[in-house]
Amino acid sequence: MSETPADVPPDNPSPSIEGKVVVVTGASAGIGAAAAIALAQRGARLAVVGRSPTKTAEIAKRTGGRAFVADFARLGEVRRLGEELRAYYPRIDILANNAGLFSRRREVTEDGHELTFQVNHLAPFLLTNLLLDRLGPGSRIITTSSRAQLVGRIDRLDLESAHRYLAFQVYGTTKLENVLFSSELARRVAPRGISSVAFHPGTVRSEFGRRGGLAVELFYKSPLRYVFMLSPEEGADTLVWLATAPQGEGWSSGGYYAKRRLAPTARQAHDPALASWLWAHSAEVVGLE
Ligand SMILES: NC(=O)c1ccc[n+]([C@@H]2O[C@H](COP(=O)([O-])OP(=O)(O)OC[C@H]3O[C@@H](n4cnc5c(N)ncnc54)[C@H](OP(=O)(O)O)[C@@H]3O)[C@@H](O)[C@H]2O)c1
Repeated sequence: MSETPADVPPDNPSPSIEGKVVVVTGASAGIGAAAAIALAQRGARLAVVGRSPTKTAEIAKRTGGRAFVADFARLGEVRRLGEELRAYYPRIDILANNAGLFSRRREVTEDGHELTFQVNHLAPFLLTNLLLDRLGPGSRIITTSSRAQLVGRIDRLDLESAHRYLAFQVYGTTKLENVLFSSELARRVAPRGISSVAFHPGTVRSEFGRRGGLAVELFYKSPLRYVFMLSPEEGADTLVWLATAPQGEGWSSGGYYAKRRLAPTARQAHDPALASWLWAHSAEVVGLE
């Protein structure tokens, strides 16, 4: 698909990220789609990454960006996506690791991993590592975590929840892994002038509840969602801010943010040894050196 200017007028032309290459995963719906559109309005060149080819193509068209399709439940597709992005972009300015899901039932991917752990943690871990040499001074990696990280609990002996699967805690644990990944990444890429941050978007009326079973789905589809939940555009606000605001103006690398402010994280998020262990374990699992 060729790149054309975004077909949507800018709602707020500044701050500009004119011409910068922005990769957004999970950009076919919800928060990622809203962020991709908002960043295109500010002049970014979008790589719109999604799972559904039709939905991804639609957002790529709306942003004037390029569509890339991969199912994160297949690590082979993540590797192929990494190759495609590397071939197309010599430099990436922003990588937004936003794709994610909640699964009521424990499912195992063809790679042999628990689905939530793979899609929410292993896949963005692998994709980021595959793209690292395309990022350089000034580049930013933004990972969509969640306040659910506060209920996460990493059990080194049962990382794949084989012994106990409590859906909300499993989801929260992957979001805690996002925070640990993001802070460990910040430490590793600091010498290259690259930043890494994580954020909570708020409770957002997106397509998020669809695999959550009846109760979660009803919660996300209830008419009250217009009262208690944010729109996808509001949910994308902190992502857009982290992508566009100069570092030092309210945010710094390694932080976890909500509503454009530093936000509390689970106790395990403050354990650098755990972050380092999770990195090494994830690298081994996905076959990285
Ligand atoms: N909504 C909330 O209240 C909330 C709160 C806190 C954090 N979050 C986080 O925000 C992020 C975005 O969620 P959302 O609310 O925008 O949900 P959403 O509307 O369901 O969008 C999720 C995005 O991730 C993609 N995705 C799902 N499974 C995938 C897979 N196996 N492989 C590749 N892509 C996949 C979806 O692709 P398809 O369109 O093809 O399904 C879609 O683009 C997630 O990381 C979520 O954990 C959401």
